[in-house]
Amino acid sequence: MTGRLVGKSALITGSARGIGKHFAQRYLAEGATVAIADINLNAAEQTAKELGAGAYAVYMDVTDVASINAAIASVVDHAGKLDILINNAALFTASPTVEISTAEFDKLYAVNVFGTLFSIQAAAKQMIAQGHGGKIINMASQAGRRGEPYVAVYCSTKAAVISITQSTGLDLIKHGINVNAISPGVVEGEHWDHVDSLFAKWEGKALGQKKKEVAAGVPFGRFGKPDDLVGMAVFLASDDAEYVVAQTYNVDGGQWMS
Ligand SMILES: NC(=O)c1ccc[n+]([C@@H]2O[C@H](COP(=O)([O-])OP(=O)(O)OC[C@H]3O[C@@H](n4cnc5c(N)ncnc54)[C@H](O)[C@@H]3O)[C@@H](O)[C@H]2O)c1
Repeated sequence: MTGRLVGKSALITGSARGIGKHFAQRYLAEGATVAIADINLNAAEQTAKELGAGAYAVYMDVTDVASINAAIASVVDHAGKLDILINNAALFTASPTVEISTAEFDKLYAVNVFGTLFSIQAAAKQMIAQGHGGKIINMASQAGRRGEPYVAVYCSTKAAVISITQSTGLDLIKHGINVNAISPGVVEGEHWDHVDSLFAKWEGKALGQKKKEVAAGVPFGRFGKPDDLVGMAVFLASDDAEYVVAQTYNVDGGQWMS
């Protein structure tokens, strides 16, 4: 088989749907086996079935270290090793500053920040024990590059993901583990339908209006699609990315430059 990830064992969190599912599809085409790891096990099983040979479903709640460890153990059982982790699972919320609840703060920080850091930790322990390095990719966001009205909680979680990528990346490279991140802009899918509905609520807009306004501001001229991100996800998991350390790459149609 030819491909850039032949023989690699990958785990992608939150890959039952959306961007993670597209990453899984391309990783399979590049020759990897992929654990479709999600808190929604039914959806993960359906996705694994749909994606076919090489894909398998794993229950994983990234807010729970025992569940993270169990998911990694089941990848090792299934594939014999773990080479690639994508920290893709995340939640979104939007509220005016005076309306933000401690519950929504805790929920987002648990998935987006705790989940990212402790999944990195568990994967790194496994990769260090294996002794031949690995690749870890975190999903950041343009929202982590700057603030947005109503989005203090989500934006700050994604700024934390960029920061965690830098610190863990600098620490883990001595073990041959490359930690990097992808920073998408706005991407079609259920996640953005949810964003649009929250802006409809807080800004009194019709459903779909916020999305049109945002799309008009993307320099490329349209919303992103999950497939716009897969090339970067393959590159960062491949041997070609050995010398890429602790970076966050914008793949956003020109929305942010850094
Ligand atoms: N869609 C966008 O416009 C956009 C833009 C920038 C960044 N991102 C980031 O890209 C990533 C993927 O986004 P998406 O649009 O595919 O999201 P999505 O909402 O479609 O999918 C998220 C997945 O995560 C799973 N999940 C939720 N909580 C979990 C938990 N505790 N443990 C394990 N899995 C859990 C969900 O079941 C779901 O399958 C996220 O990190 C998101 O923040 C998305």
